[in-house]
Amino acid sequence: MSTTPSVIYLKDYQVPPFLIESTQLRFELEDDRTLVKAELRLTRNPECQVKPRGLLMHGDESLRLCRLAVDGQVLTAKDYSIDAGTLTIAEVPDQFILESVVEIDPAKNTALEGLYLSDGVYCTQCEAEGFRRITYYLDRPDVMSVFTTTVVADKARFPVLLSNGNPVAEGDDSDGRHWVTWEDPFPKPAYLFALVAGDLKHIEDTFTTASGKQVALRLFAEEKDLDKLDHAMTSLKASMRWDEQVYGREYDLEIYMIVAVDFFNMGAMENKGLNVFNTSCVLASQKTTTDAGFQRVEAVVAHEYFHNWSGNRVTCRDWFQLSLKEGFTVFRDAEFSADMNSRTVKRVEDVQLLRTAQFSEDAGPMAHPVRPASFIEISNFYTMTVYEKGAEVVRMIHTLLGPDQFRAGSDLYFERHDGQAVTTDDFVAAMEAASGRDLTQFKRWYSQAGTPVLDITDEYDPSESVYRLRVKQSCPPTPEASEKAPFHIPLQVGLLSPEGTDMPLENGATTVTLELTESEQTFTFTGIPQKPVPSLLRGFSAPVKLNYAYSQAELVFLMQHDSDGFNRWEAAQKLGVIILQALIADYQAGRELILSDALVGAYRAVLNDTTLDPAMVAKVLTLPSQAYLGELSTQIDVDAIHAAREFAMNALACALEAEFSQAYKRCLIDVAYQPSAEQVAQRMLKNLCLSYLLRAGKPEYLALAQQQFSDADNMTDEQAALALVVHSNYQDAAPAMLSQFYSRWSQESLVVNSWLAVQASNPCPGALSQVEALMQHEAFNMKNPNKVRSLIGAFCGQNPVNFHAKDGSGYRFLADQVVALNELNPQIASRLVAPLTKWKRYDETRQQLMRDQLQRIMDSAELSRDVYEVVSKSI
Ligand code: PHE
Ligand code: ZN
Repeated sequence: MSTTPSVIYLKDYQVPPFLIESTQLRFELEDDRTLVKAELRLTRNPECQVKPRGLLMHGDESLRLCRLAVDGQVLTAKDYSIDAGTLTIAEVPDQFILESVVEIDPAKNTALEGLYLSDGVYCTQCEAEGFRRITYYLDRPDVMSVFTTTVVADKARFPVLLSNGNPVAEGDDSDGRHWVTWEDPFPKPAYLFALVAGDLKHIEDTFTTASGKQVALRLFAEEKDLDKLDHAMTSLKASMRWDEQVYGREYDLEIYMIVAVDFFNMGAMENKGLNVFNTSCVLASQKTTTDAGFQRVEAVVAHEYFHNWSGNRVTCRDWFQLSLKEGFTVFRDAEFSADMNSRTVKRVEDVQLLRTAQFSEDAGPMAHPVRPASFIEISNFYTMTVYEKGAEVVRMIHTLLGPDQFRAGSDLYFERHDGQAVTTDDFVAAMEAASGRDLTQFKRWYSQAGTPVLDITDEYDPSESVYRLRVKQSCPPTPEASEKAPFHIPLQVGLLSPEGTDMPLENGATTVTLELTESEQTFTFTGIPQKPVPSLLRGFSAPVKLNYAYSQAELVFLMQHDSDGFNRWEAAQKLGVIILQALIADYQAGRELILSDALVGAYRAVLNDTTLDPAMVAKVLTLPSQAYLGELSTQIDVDAIHAAREFAMNALACALEAEFSQAYKRCLIDVAYQPSAEQVAQRMLKNLCLSYLLRAGKPEYLALAQQQFSDADNMTDEQAALALVVHSNYQDAAPAMLSQFYSRWSQESLVVNSWLAVQASNPCPGALSQVEALMQHEAFNMKNPNKVRSLIGAFCGQNPVNFHAKDGSGYRFLADQVVALNELNPQIASRLVAPLTKWKRYDETRQQLMRDQLQRIMDSAELSRDVYEVVSKSI
């Protein structure tokens, strides 16, 4: 690092001095370079108080400027200067045309930001600040412009030429090249620009909007993947209909396109009219994709589609407002998935993710508010906090306002701000205006980081039939503030009678929303005839940690009787936590481990209840994860947590072998495969049963897994069997299955990714050397983020026992990879480093080993801003 990167602050925001009314682009794609010609119509921004004489534009150092002209006058070196990341023209008129020609080199772009080549296909990724790697521009989201784009390329090799909006002209040149011009009538910031050129095939369908407009839907992929686009198309049409019905939002262009590319830093990108997707989030087929994969495709297609309103028509003023579009859109896609599948299962999965990944981010050195106040590199803020906690914040507004007022607020937000770049304050203001509620205190959720903790006690007074809940809230310090003001928290509560029924509360309702606003509050319930068992935080109504001293018997009671499906699962988790924490303590003290009868009994009852949704049975019978137990510990003892969970799972398997075996058989499906909620649930429970059966110590269950592996007609069952055996004690059986799987699927890149991940996440000894060997395998490619995530990411993030090996080998390995990736792809490098930044949570030996590796990364040459920010903030 030559100079220390500078910090950018929200408080320094200023409106842009210039606006760009129109943007005309011409891309000439050639093998060893691409020429980008831009014609921008600029005017002074009437809203800007200052009137600078010159113009400052963003432009990456990799741009090679060939020509620059103002109103047709070519500028010479004395008229402008080029600095790291900017171009300044000394003097410009109030209104003018700026022409530029730059040369760029997409073939050398391994950062996958800007214009790059993905397996021979040209594509772009401009969010957040990638457009400045394409041409000089005002690359900020509050500069919105109307784009016209012409793409020129060799016709034989790049028959498909795409950009945003509608195609308006095309033609052939004499030299074998052709061109297409696209016009996007909706003003947009540069981060929503996209271009694709390649030898792609597509499937096509149409959608008729509520007002009768015909929209062409085109999904593009390489020819070999054309048969894997149907699920995305179905999901797209369902999303379009859902957004009309639930939010009153219609699509606005004549065509909607999605392109699948193999090299992509994230999941997908909502470019106006031309989404670019990681193949992993759009391709799906019975044979190659798991049920979870199908659901991910549905969710991501919906997410990107919903951005057309929440993100594109109404966009962000600046990048501190990122959660304005991401939190809202994640909330929208979660509700969509809940409506399409099982609502409770979806909620459980989202909460599991939040409580492990987001809570640990909020407790670490990179903790930041949903609306951060500063950053060095914005790419580092596409986080669980901005996305998932941001979605929880929107969900809390929904809970506080109720569905009707929330919809009114959403309508008002879109009406007020269509075509504008706005802030999270504008979003909340619309919600306030539509509901008449004061959300001033609520907005602390946007500005204060950290996970609030609720400590709850209760008392029952039989003589007066009064029940009281005393709630204390607190929030641990985070880097941006050590003192926190109280949050406005919706706490949904029900009270169960000793018979297990919901007691009627206010106006006969069985769930009430208590609004916490102070650090300590008491809520009184009158007319309560018997001492109730409280069902607290129903539906996980706020992203908080909750402490209430439930007895094991009360938890078993809630597991059976709570009318809130989420809290039935939560009771099982809480019971699991109590029992596992005791086992962890026993293991640490060298005591014999004994499994509690309470857990066996509770599990048996759930397993034998055939009236329950099999997916919820599977969720309830899954012990709290290693990550969640770690998150709950003051000091994470990786080995003890692993040993306790292994012991408990093995003991449960032996105690409930017959029940697991019966449930496995009950879940066999004899009709054609469908990724429907019903079948997904059956496969989920079946494979959970298989995981326990493999622990029962009988070779017949290994045979069962092997049989499932060979007979499966779908990837869910095939991959589950593979992973379970590879991670089991039957180590001798693993190699043959792994090699069979690879030879069967070596041509399917996404399946190969799961083959890599299964080995990388193997808790058995020797995983690191296996990972190192796989890095030399033909299937691995350090330049492909999906491969890096599947191998290196899975080892460091999903293999705690091996990654945290006491000799520090896992840490050293990760640091080596981060240093290598820092040069190739800074975004991926900086995401990968996260596990090392959590060093404070481990024992002293590991702390030291982890910090040593962070220091090694810090000392290595030329750190990117991305890696520098994360590492310097964590040391
Ligand atoms: N905006 C994308 C989404 O949330 C994510 C993304 C961010 C993709 C940055 C690429 C780069 O859908
Ligand atoms: Zn998004």
